[in-house]
Amino acid sequence: MRHLLSTEGLAAPDATAVLDTADTLKQTLLGREVKKLPTLRGRTVVTLFYENSTRTRVSFEVAGKWMSADVINVSASSSSVGKGESLRDTALTLSAAGADCVIIRHPASGAAHRLAEWLEEDGTQVVNAGDGTHEHPTQALLDAATLRERLGDVSGRRIGIVGDLLHSRVARSNVHLLRTLGAEVTLIAPPTLVPTGIEHWGAEVRHELDPELPKLDAVMLLRVQAERMHGGFFPSAREYSIAYGLNEKRLAKLPEHAVVLHPGPMLRGMEIAPSVADSPRAAITQQVGNGVHVRMAVLYHLLAGEELTA
Ligand code: NCD
Repeated sequence: MRHLLSTEGLAAPDATAVLDTADTLKQTLLGREVKKLPTLRGRTVVTLFYENSTRTRVSFEVAGKWMSADVINVSASSSSVGKGESLRDTALTLSAAGADCVIIRHPASGAAHRLAEWLEEDGTQVVNAGDGTHEHPTQALLDAATLRERLGDVSGRRIGIVGDLLHSRVARSNVHLLRTLGAEVTLIAPPTLVPTGIEHWGAEVRHELDPELPKLDAVMLLRVQAERMHGGFFPSAREYSIAYGLNEKRLAKLPEHAVVLHPGPMLRGMEIAPSVADSPRAAITQQVGNGVHVRMAVLYHLLAGEELTA
């Protein structure tokens, strides 16, 4: 792999290779007191975050450190970005300072692709950690890793993605990857939170949650992304929660084996009831744990691309 910018166009064998490597890394580190592999010793990884993040930034940092890379975190608020430097100049600076890989989160859709073009000549690799409302490929990969663990396989499964599709990069990345891996995807949202052109995503769209629940092997809830909303997309938080919130009553409508996912951060009481979030049916902390192994695997495939030296 040269860069990881999107799951759209990520071939099934490549996605499966990352998931298999993540699994091998997880098994290798299981029960180890010292979680450190020498694989990326001497390589420099920079996280460049222009948006808030807890899970994604921390898990990329942990992933790099567990692979023995030198990890440097740059946040827009504490860098020269605050002085008005452009994204291109910031990127070229990081590359000139020795970055082998830049992991970027940016509010503009397409930012990671632009960065990859600018850094092409330097050979610096780029990972998209979320660009606007476009894609978040490592989130989709860690979701797939979690589904594989919980359901055995992704292929042939029916996955429901519920909520703020309009502002979600998680939804788009998941639809592409899940379909590539052979799953059927149902998107469920109020009409106001459905993006135009969704018919090209290759998933069915529904506006009512209750009739879909008994058919699903997994339900993935999306956060209502108020920071991206300008205007009213639904009458009130209470009404949203009544129509689309996963409460205990709705949980009981899912098949026994079905799993509940959420990329985080969760709005407890809005898209998910606290008791559902904390129930064993939910795989939310498992997703975070898998996020570290999946990101290790991504860094490995990008930067090492050889036999594992576990
Ligand atoms: C998601 C994101 O930033 O796109 N969070 C994450 O990376 N785990 C989803 C969200 O912010 O709601």
